[in-house]
Amino acid sequence: MAEEQRHREDGGGVATAKETLSVTDNRTGESYEVEVDDGTVRAMAFRQMKVSDDDFGLMAYDPAFTNTASCRSSVCFIDGEAGVLEYRGYPIEQLCEQSNYLEVAYLLIYGELPTRDQLDEWVFEITHHTYVHENIKKFVEGFRYDAHPMGMLLATVGALSTFYPAANRIDDPEERHMAGVRMIAKVPTLAAFAYRHNLGLPYVYPDNDLSYPGNFLSMMFKMTEVKYQPDPRLERALDVLWILHADHEQNCSTNAVRGVGSSRVDPYSAVAAGVAALYGPLHGGANEAVLRMLDRIESADNIPAFLEGVKKKDEKLMGFGHRVYKNYDPRARIIKKHVDEVFEVTGRNPKLDIAVELEKRALDDDYFVERKLYPNVDFYSGLIYEALGLPTDMFTVMFAIPRTSGWIAQWLEMVQDTETKIARPRQIYTGERERDFQPIEEREQRVDPPTGEAATSTIDPTKR
Ligand code: ACO
Repeated sequence: MAEEQRHREDGGGVATAKETLSVTDNRTGESYEVEVDDGTVRAMAFRQMKVSDDDFGLMAYDPAFTNTASCRSSVCFIDGEAGVLEYRGYPIEQLCEQSNYLEVAYLLIYGELPTRDQLDEWVFEITHHTYVHENIKKFVEGFRYDAHPMGMLLATVGALSTFYPAANRIDDPEERHMAGVRMIAKVPTLAAFAYRHNLGLPYVYPDNDLSYPGNFLSMMFKMTEVKYQPDPRLERALDVLWILHADHEQNCSTNAVRGVGSSRVDPYSAVAAGVAALYGPLHGGANEAVLRMLDRIESADNIPAFLEGVKKKDEKLMGFGHRVYKNYDPRARIIKKHVDEVFEVTGRNPKLDIAVELEKRALDDDYFVERKLYPNVDFYSGLIYEALGLPTDMFTVMFAIPRTSGWIAQWLEMVQDTETKIARPRQIYTGERERDFQPIEEREQRVDPPTGEAATSTIDPTKR
């Protein structure tokens, strides 16, 4: 870039075209020039800033990674202000209109849309890897009848690594490919087994004649019929939901997959870490909370009082707001269109009327407008899952199935990135230093206060 001076209208000041940051350390008076690359500075550039020779150097502190890019990625693009979501550059709206989940999974993993031959081969591979080893079935049988299906999924995805030990050869492209195929193929089988285990129903084996979502519906809901015939409208709605949930750049579970995978563990173990992160209520569990909220509101007449409570901060409007989207979540707009199609098959759920009215009133209200609070992906997805007859425990599992392709795409990118090192953050140490060990007879008894505040590390021996 030319080294000329130019005025910046937006910043109001004078800036040079130089892609650097000048930093003066007021502790020492020293000045440094730090490179700005892709709108970021390297945290390591601050390490040279020291107050003395034996000083460790300056670190960046960012406990929730709210302003730290942890990688370069070309998988998923989000512009939260504009409400834009793209996979590999393709707008989510076009993918939902014109593609299907397995094609999107290929796109996420390999970076380009497949040709007809490539897609046929991909679908054939996935379809022919949906069976799981019979021992996995026994493993699922070992869980309590009421085990949470997400806990069962987490354990069985991790257990797959023991059935495919060669997957730890992560430098072998063929092994990497097969691990991806196996996980995308088997996760729906594991999810359906977990569901049927809870109900005490026999497991249904995959049916290769059916589509990816159609086969899932069969494994979930087939009873005595010789052949399960999924309703095409439900198949399509599920396929669209899965496209929408396939990836969302560096969210909590993807960060878990990358972090664990950076130790060069096999991909099954890395993806199991993603399932664990998604299990948490702050990540995968919001759609359940939306349904509970709609149940409590009970009728459209109660909406004004409910919104008043939200504005008084007595509670939250679940399914509204997003850390990244400060505009309508594009996924919510697409899901909303498919809700009616699903209800055509399953019968109308009165909660939809409450949800639609609630959305309308909130979007007309200054409180939500000023805070840029719009419906997110979870506002309507729970209604679809409930209409499909799924218990709320299964909602997060329904998220994990499609997110598997995103986790794999991000894991593949991470292991092939020459900048990847084992993820190992620093800390600001706040504990004691250089204490001399005390023999047990000489230790003072200190009891932790009930609040845990100012807790000591000493255990009260009388309470043992
Ligand atoms: N209902 C009412 N008020 C809200 C809501 C909400 N759902 N979300 C945010 N606000 C308010 C906050 O109270 C705050 O108000 P203030 O400025 O008066 O203090 C303001 O809007 C800004 O909110 P933040 O908390 O700063 O937003 P943040 O980005 O930290 O939170 C989050 C995002 C966690 C998603 C939040 O909007 C929320 O809790 N929403 C409800 C839960 C939900 O639907 N989660 C699903 C997200 S999508 C997904 O994970 C797949």
